[in-house]
Amino acid sequence: MKNIIFYGAPGAGKGTQCELLINEYGYKQISTGELFRNLDDSNPLARQIKETIAKGILIDDETTAALVKQEIEKHEGNPIILDGFPRTLNQAKMLDNFFSNYIVINIDIDKRLALERALGRISCSKCGRIYNKYSKEMKPQKDNICDDCNVSLIGRDDDNEDSFNKRFNTYLDNVKGILEFYQSKDVLFTVEANESKYVTFDKVKKILGE
Ligand code: AP5
Ligand code: MG
Repeated sequence: MKNIIFYGAPGAGKGTQCELLINEYGYKQISTGELFRNLDDSNPLARQIKETIAKGILIDDETTAALVKQEIEKHEGNPIILDGFPRTLNQAKMLDNFFSNYIVINIDIDKRLALERALGRISCSKCGRIYNKYSKEMKPQKDNICDDCNVSLIGRDDDNEDSFNKRFNTYLDNVKGILEFYQSKDVLFTVEANESKYVTFDKVKKILGE
């Protein structure tokens, strides 16, 4: 099975599509955002990283690439999904030194919808499952409680309008270079993500030839 790079704006649905792929095909997900959010608070460097991502600012390419390389090595032999890496053209070039046999799925969404999704997002503090308080399909059965773990759902520090706008602008600054890079390698596929997560998932499965 090919490895996958999910690329897309904040709130596009990368993490949500990863959940579906993991459940159906057993991919291993490497989400740089999750890795940063889960760093141990007792370490000053980790606290600094968390403050940076809460503001919607990217972590430097070298730190992020080193983390991703280490995670890829941990999962050797399994099909991998990269969620949130690369995010700059420089990261994309660095990645090619230690990752291969991949396709890139670009999840395309307009800004208004992405903002709405980000502001409604809540996730399980235990298992990380992603919900959305504004979407019928993505709501938990009981308000603010995870269907699987029965523990509280929490929002993310960067899911406010100010931080979202910064993340979206960074995305706009980088998207052209990244898509051109992968287009030139003939590994790029794009799906529109403005419908239900299952409709998007069907499009992803078609790309994978499933
Ligand atoms: P990261 O955690 O990757 O955040 P992001 O890119 O901003 O993307 P999101 O997680 O916000 O969106 P998503 O596409 O995963 O959407 P989701 O599936 O949750 O990164 C956070 C930060 O870490 C960065 O800003 C940066 O600081 C740092 N960082 C990370 N990677 C880095 C890198 N490579 N280099 C440097 N720094 C890096 O869905 C969103 C919501 O919509 C959810 O509520 C979901 O339930 C809902 N939803 C999803 N699909 C649908 C649908 N079809 N219909 C209705 N609702 C839906
Ligand atoms: Mg995500």
